[in-house]
Amino acid sequence: MTSNLQTMKDVKSIRDTDITGKRVLIRVDFNVPMDANQNISDDRRIRSALQTINYCIDNNACSITLITHLGRPKGAYEERFSLRHVQKRLERLLHKRIEFVEDFEAAKDEIAACSLERIFLLENIRFHPGEKKNDPELSKRLASICDVYVNDAFGTSHRKHASTYGIAEHVDVKVAGFLMMKEIEAFSKALETPTRPITLVVGGAKISSKITLLESVMTKIDKLIIGGAMSNTFLRAMGYDMQASLFEEEYVETARKVLKQAQQNKVKMYLPVDVVITDSIEHPIDVRVVPAQDVFEGFQAVDIGPATVKLFHEAIELSNTIIWNGPMGIYEIDRFSKGTYKIATAIADCYAYTIVGGGDTADAVDKAGETENFSFISTGGGASLELLEGKVLPGFELLDRNK
Ligand code: 3PG
Repeated sequence: MTSNLQTMKDVKSIRDTDITGKRVLIRVDFNVPMDANQNISDDRRIRSALQTINYCIDNNACSITLITHLGRPKGAYEERFSLRHVQKRLERLLHKRIEFVEDFEAAKDEIAACSLERIFLLENIRFHPGEKKNDPELSKRLASICDVYVNDAFGTSHRKHASTYGIAEHVDVKVAGFLMMKEIEAFSKALETPTRPITLVVGGAKISSKITLLESVMTKIDKLIIGGAMSNTFLRAMGYDMQASLFEEEYVETARKVLKQAQQNKVKMYLPVDVVITDSIEHPIDVRVVPAQDVFEGFQAVDIGPATVKLFHEAIELSNTIIWNGPMGIYEIDRFSKGTYKIATAIADCYAYTIVGGGDTADAVDKAGETENFSFISTGGGASLELLEGKVLPGFELLDRNK
């Protein structure tokens, strides 16, 4: 039986089609984090798209049109979500002039005319109400300006939107870009042909957002390490009083089921044995390390403790494939970041095939100075999660196939 990952691997890549003299439309994911002054704080997603864009330039595509979203506007213009800042960064990285298209409808015919060597960047596609609704009319209009559609927006490939999905129904040639292919290869190596033992390290705030993942990987992994606020729900399920810690009461029963499933599937589970607790997140006065079952009254757990780091480290060290999604604590605050950074270093130091998914986790790896020491850092948050859950991502569904 062909697996879902194999189905996605079978799509045609940009290398499999002739783009010379063609009008190429590339859906990229330039949904990058920005600070309060709209400076891009991490341009990895833009840099990750350069290979496909440069390939089109080197192979003499007639024109290149780039489409992306930024943030979550409500189908209308919002200054803070404008792609103007992205245009500048892209020009700097590409060393090319990028023509910014503020009004796609007005510029449609000009873009559609084969405009030799011009590179266009459309304003945020989510300013169009039809994008998120996968409106066929918008899909058709987007399709009308190109000969070849390239989807390279891995980070958005779990969305069934007009520019990530619907458009492919109206273009004759539709292929995946290099980033899409790289992402799928990386996950396939970890999930389909892994060197065992395979360890999944999961963190982050909510068990509810990762429950499908936990249930679906149970038969594929050997070890499951859980940290972050979601481990509080598991600790609660074990009967510990987590006091003011963030946990999901309505998922305590689910956590119990996961613990049982792990046992049934002979998956070794690792939970925090000690935690860093604080009297306040915003204004901490009293911060200390206690055993996981001894959280003080009114205190909350905000990071894993040193004994847990040691325990997780040992489990990580003896793994040959490691997938990590979700920080171990509130790593954005220095005092509560140690656990996450130490786990980043532990994974980076081990001689395993290592993958990171999720914006926060990739950011934590970067802040820990370990980016270069991981085998693969995915540009996908929700997309990488859905991939791990075993789903076929819509962004791959309608692309041309090799078989
Ligand atoms: C992401 O950052 O996960 C992608 O760009 C998708 O964004 P969305 O969650 O707003 O659809």
